Amino acid sequence: MKHVEWFKKKSATIKECPGETKCVMGKLPMAKTHPPNERILYWPCPIFTSLEKPSDAIGRCAYGVNLANNFEARTLNVLSDLGVPKLHAENIKNKRDSIAVKAVEMWDGIGFLVLCGGTGVGKSFGAAYAVLRLLRGMFSPSDFRRPGVWTDIFTRGKSIFSWRHIRDLTVAQEAEKQHFLGAGVLVLDDLGSENTTPAVKELIGYLATKRNDNPRSQTIITANLSLEAMSSRYGDRFMDRIMACGKVVQCDGENIRMTR
Ligand SMILES: Nc1ncnc2c1ncn2[C@@H]1O[C@H](COP(=O)(O)OP(=O)(O)O)[C@@H](O)[C@H]1O
Ligand SMILES: [Mg+2]
Repeated sequence: MKHVEWFKKKSATIKECPGETKCVMGKLPMAKTHPPNERILYWPCPIFTSLEKPSDAIGRCAYGVNLANNFEARTLNVLSDLGVPKLHAENIKNKRDSIAVKAVEMWDGIGFLVLCGGTGVGKSFGAAYAVLRLLRGMFSPSDFRRPGVWTDIFTRGKSIFSWRHIRDLTVAQEAEKQHFLGAGVLVLDDLGSENTTPAVKELIGYLATKRNDNPRSQTIITANLSLEAMSSRYGDRFMDRIMACGKVVQCDGENIRMTR
């Protein structure tokens, strides 16, 4: 029988899950906890049950550890290619708990997530983290049985995510605006920092209606405005639309305050 270290070394070069029938790691000898020659077949395979949270079980599957680590690194690396500001993408490695982070973790991923509040409280960071979570959620462990999944992380992400600063949206050409409004996941950063002309107000109102009409779309908005200021700036209809299907979170202060 091959030694544990041999399997570990071998698996370090493997980028796909070989599946339960061909998996040698699944038959890893458990030298410490079991009699020396006993082989354990893990079923269900640990990477099928928890790719994101390496558990003790996954810790014993070198394929699983490798895949989970590669997946984490790859999804983090493509964030900036998907338009997420590099600064936030880099800071995710040292993610601290914050109201915005908690709000993202509590969001069910349906409709709108609006992070509002003063400057520097981590709203844009929260939006970046939300993109990462949604991106990771698009893949299931069975995807790692086929080759090409590592390139897919970028191509699928690119076709779904759209990150725009509010000012870029307001100056965009009509075709680009429509493309943006139709994105699977749209991030609108820094709402409130634009010159609010009647035309811009109308565009923001239209955005809320259009996004609300598509129940499968997800919209993340960061706004340097309090709830009250947002309401008086964009009007009740805008607030009704986003609150009907989503969460608005005031990110400054001690506690998480979520609507709904
Ligand atoms: N929870 C967090 N963990 C690590 N870095 C964070 C966190 N929240 C914010 N940051 C970093 O702090 C800085 C300010 O946050 P930012 O999201 O830009 O604030 P806001 O959008 O509310 O003005 C950025 O560099 C951001 O990446
Ligand atoms: Mg910001």
